[in-house]
Amino acid sequence: MYTLANKMYAPLLLLLNQSLAFQKAKVSYERTEEYCAQREDKEYTGTKPFNMEKNLVISGISFGYSVISVLNNLCLEFAVGRIYAITGKSGIGKTTIIKLLARLLFPDDGKVYVDGVNATEIDYIEYRRNVLYMPQQAVIFDSSLRDNITLGLEFADSDVYTSLEMVGMSDFVTSLSNGIDSFIGIRYRDISEGEKQRICLARTIIRKPKIILLDEPTSHLDEISTQTIYNCLNKYRISQNATIIIVTHTLKGDFADEWIRLK
Ligand SMILES: Nc1ncnc2c1ncn2[C@@H]1O[C@H](COP(=O)(O)OP(=O)(O)OP(=O)(O)O)[C@@H](O)[C@H]1O
Ligand SMILES: [Mg+2]
Repeated sequence: MYTLANKMYAPLLLLLNQSLAFQKAKVSYERTEEYCAQREDKEYTGTKPFNMEKNLVISGISFGYSVISVLNNLCLEFAVGRIYAITGKSGIGKTTIIKLLARLLFPDDGKVYVDGVNATEIDYIEYRRNVLYMPQQAVIFDSSLRDNITLGLEFADSDVYTSLEMVGMSDFVTSLSNGIDSFIGIRYRDISEGEKQRICLARTIIRKPKIILLDEPTSHLDEISTQTIYNCLNKYRISQNATIIIVTHTLKGDFADEWIRLK
C-alpha cells in the first residue's frame, strides 16, 4: 500500500532539500507527527511500548507500488546488537524494505515483528522514535550546527558535543568561530558531503534509537569518511546494543556482521 504517510514525507523532504528555513521545517515535521497520531488506520493506532531485546523480524512480506509488485513473501531476521548489510541490484527493493521497516510504508501482506510483537500494535510515534531512518541524501538546514543536530528538541550541550565527537567532527567544531552555535548551510557556511553525512549521523545517534536504518550512507564519500562513519556505527551499536541495517552497493567489507544479498 503506497500510503498517505509516504505521500506526506516525500514533499516534506523535497521542501527540506530546497533549504526551507529550519523553523518552518520543524513545524511541518511536528504537524506530520500530530497528524499521524490522530489517524485512525490500524497502522497508527497501536498502543504497546517499543521494546527490542531480541530481534526484528520481517515475516512473509509482500509489497507493491500500485500495480508494480516489488517484494513477494520476503522473510528476514535482524538480531539485536548486530550490523547487517543489504545488497542487490538496482530496483530490487532495498529502499522499499528500509521504508517498510521505518514504517513509512506498510506491507500489503505479511508482518513486521519486534520481539514477537506485531509492529501495528506498537505506538506509531514511539516506533518511529526508536527506529531512525537516515536517507541517502543528507539534509542540512540553513541554521546553527546545534539546530541541525537537535532539530529543535532539548539536548544538553554535552550530548551535542559527544554526538559530534562520535562522528569525528570535534576538529570541525573547533574550527567554527562560534562552536555549535555557528551557522551552517548554503546561506552561511557550506560544508562537504562527508561532513553533511556525519552531521546527519550525529543527529541520529543523539536520539539513541534502538535501530538505525541507513540507505547507501557512504555512496558519495571517500575512503576516510566512509571508515569514520562505519567506526562510529560500530561504536554506537556496542554502547547501545543497537541494531544497524545498511543498504549498500559495496559487495563486501568487514563493517557488517551479516550480509543479505537480495535476488
Ligand atoms: N513511489 C514509487 N512508485 C512506483 N514505483 C516505485 C516507487 N518507489 C520505487 N518504485 C519501484 O519499486 C522498485 C524497487 O525500488 P527501490 O527503490 O526499493 O529499489 P532499490 O533496490 O533501492 O534500488 P537502487 O539500488 O537503485 O536504490 C523499483 O522498480 C522502483 O522503480
Ligand atoms: Mg534504493
